[in-house]
Amino acid sequence: MIPVNEPLIGEKEIANVLDCLKTGWISSAGKYLEEFEQAWASYCGMHYGVAVSNGSTALQVAVACLDLQPGDEVILPTFTIISCAQAVTYNGGIPVLVDCDPRTWCMDVSQVEARITPRTRAIMPVHIYGHPVDMDPILSLAKQHGLFVIEDAAEAHGAEYLSDRGLSNEAWHRCGGMSDISVFSFYANKLVTTGEGGMVLTNDPKIADQARSLRNLCFHRERRFYHTELGYNFRLTNLQAAIGLAQVERMPETILKKRWMGESYTQQLKHISSIQLPVEEPWARQVYWMYGLVLAESTGLDAVEFARRLHIEGVETRPFFLGIHEQPVYTNKGLFKGEKYPVAERIARQGLYLPSGLTLTKAQIDEVCRAVEKLLA
Ligand SMILES: Cc1ncc(COP(=O)(O)O)c(C=O)c1O
Repeated sequence: MIPVNEPLIGEKEIANVLDCLKTGWISSAGKYLEEFEQAWASYCGMHYGVAVSNGSTALQVAVACLDLQPGDEVILPTFTIISCAQAVTYNGGIPVLVDCDPRTWCMDVSQVEARITPRTRAIMPVHIYGHPVDMDPILSLAKQHGLFVIEDAAEAHGAEYLSDRGLSNEAWHRCGGMSDISVFSFYANKLVTTGEGGMVLTNDPKIADQARSLRNLCFHRERRFYHTELGYNFRLTNLQAAIGLAQVERMPETILKKRWMGESYTQQLKHISSIQLPVEEPWARQVYWMYGLVLAESTGLDAVEFARRLHIEGVETRPFFLGIHEQPVYTNKGLFKGEKYPVAERIARQGLYLPSGLTLTKAQIDEVCRAVEKLLA
């Protein structure tokens, strides 16, 4: 079976972890934590990094920094992981959804403005499967309406976006470096992994302080075990950060490998007219976190059946996200009643992703492509 993902752990990660074990710095203090936070923040073009236990808790901390009042709204794509919506609802807010762009599968930015109300506090763009969201329209709406932007770059480590196109200040920015607060996941399938892990990035020292406090039970600065606010234990360990730091140092190679993987798949699959492949818009440098494909409905197959057939051929896959508006945990509470997001609904039914790990070989990519061709011939 060709696995959908396998992490790549190098000698440096092992040496760093051994160093933690030998010196006893195994908990949530230590040099690797600080170095990892600084290295990742600066790689992404942000000032402050606050490492947390995973991407979902990073989102929760990021939204907590907005101090939402009951009924406040956050606009986000329906096509994303539940973590995005639950960060809003855990903090007392209401997720307001938009559909996705049929080419990039990221939030359709043209739908955002119509969803802004007097209760809107933030917009949460989510870079999907390694391709950036078209950020300029979001940033300009946010500025115009005084909204926060929380950028979820969990799936887009090192992906880049060309802002202000055609203007004198046109520039490339890394995902996670363009907004008030950004969040990352370092789960084992991410370009940078710490096993489990996450980070909140910001340029605002007040937000960074608040995020640090929230991650560590809001301990009072002057008086230990005294609390004026409630926080969480969302700490990352020095051991995990030791792995992450070695991974950040390897980012240039990691991106080359991912882009080689994406381009190899595309070369071999582009002649099959019944599947839609990932794109790279002219304003984007994508990192193919996961190589997704969407089956045409005319194949008579949905993603579940196609995945079952690929499994028989020895190819492991994962289905695309099910839209937030179709999640029973929310619809059972009466949320999103009657709301329809046709693009997200179609790609949730017809989409899956192929093996995309960093250990994938040319022979494995060829084998996956032969299997896809065989099933769609
Ligand atoms: C877009 C996005 N946000 C957040 C997360 C949550 O990250 P974690 O699994 O580390 O909690 C994920 C997980 O893959 C994700 O894809």
